[in-house]
Amino acid sequence: MTTVVFFPGDGIGPEICAAARRVLETVQEQAELPLTVVEGLVGGAALDAHDDPLPPESLELARRADAVLLGAVGGPKWDGLPPAKRPEQGLLRLRKELELFANLRPAQIFPQLRAASPLRPELIEGVDILVVRELTGDIYFGEPRGAEVVQGKRRAWNTMVYDEDEIRRIAEVAFRAARDRRRRLCSVDKANVLETTRLWREVVTEVGRDYPDVELQHLYVDNAAMQLVRAPAQFDVILTGNMFGDILSDEASQLTGSIGMLASASLGQGRGMYEPIHGSAPDIAGQDRANPLATILSVAMMLRHSLDQAPLAERIEAAVLRVLDQGLRTADIAAAGEPVVGTQAMGEAVAAALREQATS
Ligand code: IPM
Ligand code: MN
Repeated sequence: MTTVVFFPGDGIGPEICAAARRVLETVQEQAELPLTVVEGLVGGAALDAHDDPLPPESLELARRADAVLLGAVGGPKWDGLPPAKRPEQGLLRLRKELELFANLRPAQIFPQLRAASPLRPELIEGVDILVVRELTGDIYFGEPRGAEVVQGKRRAWNTMVYDEDEIRRIAEVAFRAARDRRRRLCSVDKANVLETTRLWREVVTEVGRDYPDVELQHLYVDNAAMQLVRAPAQFDVILTGNMFGDILSDEASQLTGSIGMLASASLGQGRGMYEPIHGSAPDIAGQDRANPLATILSVAMMLRHSLDQAPLAERIEAAVLRVLDQGLRTADIAAAGEPVVGTQAMGEAVAAALREQATS
């Protein structure tokens, strides 16, 4: 029996996860997939219940599962807490404990949503990018880190650090992904200033020798950020570290019109974790306004990468395209004046499209 853990988390997390769960249960019924879904607490929800953003029982649930689906964590309620007691720590510790070093963040244009992109249609034509972000190293986890007050003056510091093994293993993931796509890899660094990323460039270049069929290019992160809005169609796979990847994947998401559409997979040796790339959107939490499609598409990634059910992933992806074709729009992807549906209705519509597929 396959087990999947849902960690709905905070803000809009519970609503988008409920919609995603509906969709998973629908394909599960259709395919007679033996699968158990259990729910656990992380983030602020776990802080409230157990005073720990990743309680031991949640970590244990994740370790025993075949895959993890996470909604979103964080919110103003917990903003004033000390660093170790922030909701985000739950997510960061999950990534670290499960050794999920490879974060895949695809950004492709949904033709139905062209108008939602802030870029002109001719600029986004053909955009199909995969950001491969290193997820368990870099300045996010580097030591030493800290904050202190010295003679009445506050200072704080973090450490950007990578060793060559960490760079090599993420580079391998990116080159292999490029091989299955358009065979172009752009590695992003700041090698003109930072030693860490000079090493990054060296190691990526070395790994690239084993992939002569993949065209390797290096860009500085400032230039990459500019190119992403100037001519985004030039990119295929973008490989970068944890911090630059965090920033560039948000930027890439906007090309597609809404961060509410983009799924992600975090992979390591064992089970993977799947999440929408957006946050917990506390401003619209509990109002049935959030777009569940990124979470639903994360379920599709989960079926493909962790559960060996690529055909079911494709069915979900087709159902999402179908509801977009039908004109269903949550507020984030609606054009001015277009009617809007809520989170639940959007989830139901995807489930209905799946049932319709099965009978046609
Ligand atoms: C993301 C998020 C997280 C990150 C936060 C919530 C810790 O922004 O997944 O991109 O910075 O990695
Ligand atoms: Mn982010």
